[in-house]
Amino acid sequence: MSRCGAELAVDRVCKRFGGLKVFDEVSFTIAPGEVLGVIGPNGAGKTTLINVICGKLTPTSGRILLGGRNVTGAPFHALSRAGLVRSFQQTNTFGGASVGENISRAIRFSGGRRASSDGISHMIEKFELASRLDERSDKLPYGLQKMLGLILTYATRPKVLLLDEPAAGLERRERTRIDDFVRHAQRELGCSVLIVEHDMDLIRRLCPSVLVLDAGRVLASGPPAEVLSRKDVLDAYVGAIDEEAA
Ligand SMILES: Nc1ncnc2c1ncn2[C@@H]1O[C@H](COP(=O)(O)OP(=O)(O)OP(=O)(O)O)[C@@H](O)[C@H]1O
Ligand SMILES: [Mg+2]
Repeated sequence: MSRCGAELAVDRVCKRFGGLKVFDEVSFTIAPGEVLGVIGPNGAGKTTLINVICGKLTPTSGRILLGGRNVTGAPFHALSRAGLVRSFQQTNTFGGASVGENISRAIRFSGGRRASSDGISHMIEKFELASRLDERSDKLPYGLQKMLGLILTYATRPKVLLLDEPAAGLERRERTRIDDFVRHAQRELGCSVLIVEHDMDLIRRLCPSVLVLDAGRVLASGPPAEVLSRKDVLDAYVGAIDEEAA
């Protein structure tokens, strides 16, 4: 894969915890505005990969490039300010604060890269948060807390969004909200998105390209129609997930 013009490049990255090698020599790029799905069995290292990219963890070896700049080892806050922003597998709101205050804080954090308030208002309406601006975020139903967490990432106007299982814990009918969110962020911000998910329907809908992590390596990458029908991928992962979802 060419790294020219990539918004995010992960170059031969390895992560160990002591003697445990979580992954080794993982490489991929995401072009500006592209959505990449990352899938793999529980414990494959998907969250660790996000943590390494966003600066929560330091890679054992390898490089992370943001817009062509080597940001390997830069701390989480510096990377967030530079536009590399993540969501969490659980929720990521400021618990004691109201919904409105949560959004104000995220906007303040964005500094000069402020997202248009129209774009934010659109999502507040669409995800049924408009009538709840004065409620404490940690008292919201779980699905709305997750959507608020995504709006907070949007409000910081990211260049690259790293989404860790945005659909987890959402009811089936709520899951298309993730599609709406990602498409809105792409359209309004032109940002690149890395999305970790176990929901294969969502991956097929949203991601022109998918990467499969398994046992510490990239097992396969390419268009979902191709990758998700490969026998080794089915054996390692997808068969079990699709059966679970049926
Ligand atoms: N801080 C840590 N110290 C030691 N081992 C860790 C640490 N964080 C993660 N691991 C290990 O790294 C491996 C990968 O974990 P990770 O959470 O990245 O998997 P995952 O692909 O996100 O799984 P899931 O689909 O369940 O969310 C696991 O074996 C986990 O126990
Ligand atoms: Mg995880």
